[in-house]
Amino acid sequence: MGRIVRRAVPRTLGRTRRVLSALMCPPTHYTVCYSINPWMKTDVRVDRGAALRQWMTLVAALEAGGVEIALIKQAPSLPDMVFTSNAGLLYGNRLLLSRFGPSERRGEEPLFARWFVEHGFRIDVLDETFEGAGDAFVFHGLLLAGYGQRSTLRGVRAVAERLGLPLLPLRLTDPRFFHLDTCLSILDSRTILWYPDAFDGDARGALRSLDVQLIAVTEGEALQFGCNALTDGQNVYSTTDSLRLSQLLDDVGFTLHPIPLGAFLKGGGGVRCLALPLVEVGADEDDLDQALASTA
Ligand code: ARG
Repeated sequence: MGRIVRRAVPRTLGRTRRVLSALMCPPTHYTVCYSINPWMKTDVRVDRGAALRQWMTLVAALEAGGVEIALIKQAPSLPDMVFTSNAGLLYGNRLLLSRFGPSERRGEEPLFARWFVEHGFRIDVLDETFEGAGDAFVFHGLLLAGYGQRSTLRGVRAVAERLGLPLLPLRLTDPRFFHLDTCLSILDSRTILWYPDAFDGDARGALRSLDVQLIAVTEGEALQFGCNALTDGQNVYSTTDSLRLSQLLDDVGFTLHPIPLGAFLKGGGGVRCLALPLVEVGADEDDLDQALASTA
């Protein structure tokens, strides 16, 4: 791997489909032993067996949807390493390596860096706090980036500058939705799933002014990590089993696949947090061309 491979893509409902692959970390040492977000209660026990079974269910569902899974080994002292979407932000063949805010996660940085170097990626190291794909998406040539909870405004500015992309900074105001991917998910080049109350007024306005269809989840769905979704272009994998959301997604041509991940919700993560897309559907063709050109 190392190069993002472009394949002939079938079209589904006029939407571009691309084979997706994702980096995941088997939860051999997953637990909640410190608290760096409101979900993490150190007095609540995490059943590691249940975590492993839930994680396997996610792997099986993604593989059944045609997603290839790449694996990184978890370090015993780094329980949150399972949340691979925080490894960094991928842009073509470059990984903008995360620089974690909480010291508890800083030890993950060299391990993720090594994996990406070994797999042929170029690493960009940042001086400012930035928590990777958990807080940023490239969308229609724009960097949509969350800040104010974990990544800082300086951090997302530094990333936009490195990539030479215009920045749409989105301030996150609710500590329960501390990463952008806990309250926003890009389903395809014209559809975004979001929880509006997690953003400040400017961010809500900016998102509403994009030329896309915004599908809002309810607070209950957001608390089930409904927005923390991954798609293969057809199926949407998420922890919520909301019938309401399932019908809304159905109306725009997606099928919701609920994956129960209770053990990981205790750590503040859902589907999207557990799988970092290495090749993704949903981005538009121009974004991919631009990313590839930047790494040529
Ligand atoms: N316990 C982890 C943390 O607080 C959860 C990470 C969730 N990841 C995400 N991409 N939203 O860092």
